[in-house]
Amino acid sequence: MSGAGDGDATGFRHQPVLLDRIVELFAPVPPGWVVDATVGGAGHAAAILERHEHLRVLGLDQDADALAAATERLAPYGDRARLAHVRFDALRSAVERLATTPVSGVLFDLGVSSPQLDRPERGFSYRHDAPLDMRMDRDQVRSAAEVVNDTDERDLARILRTYGDERFAARIARTIVARRPVRTTTELAEIVREAIPAAARRTGGHPAKRTFQAIRIAVNAELDILADSVDAALDVLAPDGRCAVLSYHSGEDRIVKSRLRYAATGGWRGPAHLPPPDHVRPTVRLLKAGAWTPDAGEQDANPRAASAHLRAAEKLGTPDGTPTDTPTDTPTEEPR
Ligand SMILES: C[S@@+](CC[C@H](N)C(=O)[O-])C[C@H]1O[C@@H](n2cnc3c(N)ncnc32)[C@H](O)[C@@H]1O
Repeated sequence: MSGAGDGDATGFRHQPVLLDRIVELFAPVPPGWVVDATVGGAGHAAAILERHEHLRVLGLDQDADALAAATERLAPYGDRARLAHVRFDALRSAVERLATTPVSGVLFDLGVSSPQLDRPERGFSYRHDAPLDMRMDRDQVRSAAEVVNDTDERDLARILRTYGDERFAARIARTIVARRPVRTTTELAEIVREAIPAAARRTGGHPAKRTFQAIRIAVNAELDILADSVDAALDVLAPDGRCAVLSYHSGEDRIVKSRLRYAATGGWRGPAHLPPPDHVRPTVRLLKAGAWTPDAGEQDANPRAASAHLRAAEKLGTPDGTPTDTPTDTPTEEPR
């Protein structure tokens, strides 16, 4: 997979995480489409097309810059690749519109790409001075400036705590509210630095890292749509098709783990030594009980891979080969 992380004429440079593992995961799936729900610069997508002649790729992204890069990157594969500018909660309708043969795989590589963080004008990073933006889809109206300046203090603290695991959420929210309007990434980073006690500033990386992550997740509604999108992905898969999800922080990984486990148990949460009741029907099998993580070599080479967790499941079929239904009458629902 040489050159998987190289840029192209669009200047889009992103090193795909756990590339070989992901390519391997899709080796045994039946011929058909792999939906890359977060195609980005198409590093994973190009490698899948290169290594698996039986597969085609439908790439989705809500970021027009990413799609421009993916278009160029996937051009050599002709009609084996199609792309759509949509958020992945529209995965089902994108599949109906654009992928005619069975869906053999779905890949989610969640979060932001390196160019989104590295291009100052996108306003994602505390490392560059820029207007607060952080929208992956620049057609979207609500940017980070609205979230930071229009959210009340309690909700702001909740966002920082829930999406950023920020233990000083209340102090930071109070300081932000006192200093509004906040217009730039540098102003926000400085406010966070001031709000955090001096002793805590010396540990855990840049003091504004968690706040920026939390605001970005809120701006792009990243966690709100994830559970339903993973459910939809499992639902559209053909028997023996596989779904793989790469997540980068605990909030994402909790949701992914919960939805895959729900599908693998049919929602049955009874004692492990008892067989589930007849009406409980698992729709997938987990390909690993836990998650794959990048080895030390990959983490050294690509610091953005350090927090990655990869989970994957394979769709089961009924004995006659038709897909099982997603259970609707299961006795228990996994908390999301
Ligand atoms: C980590 S990057 C993917 C990189 C890609 N796997 C590669 O190899 O180049 C994540 C991409 O997903 C996109 N994205 C994030 N959330 C999305 C969503 N809800 N719907 C569509 N695209 C999304 C981002 O715009 C970004 O381009």
